[in-house]
Amino acid sequence: MAEHTLCRLDEIDDGGSAGFEIDRTLILAVRKGEAVHAYVNSCPHVGTPLDMWPGRFLTKDGKYILCATHGALFEIEDGNCVAGPCVGQGLTPVETRLGDGLVKVLL
Ligand code: FES
Repeated sequence: MAEHTLCRLDEIDDGGSAGFEIDRTLILAVRKGEAVHAYVNSCPHVGTPLDMWPGRFLTKDGKYILCATHGALFEIEDGNCVAGPCVGQGLTPVETRLGDGLVKVLL
């Protein structure tokens, strides 16, 4: 595993999301205040990226991560699927570290 800088914390809107690619791994990140939750951008249903529009991963109310392909909903905090065709499965978490205003991930 190696540590990679994803972005500056202020590059993700508070309550918003963003998409990244590091070493050919697609990553989605959701910011809540000073916390960032990151996952591999691959739906456990059929393995497609979740975003239909780059960087837009959340439901309109900002409460869940949404897969645009078939509408699965995932908890932001743990990536568990709570609605849709892959209930009981979850997104693959990516460990994050925050420091010096940067978001870093371990891959
Ligand atoms: S590919 Fe995500 S719900 Fe089907």
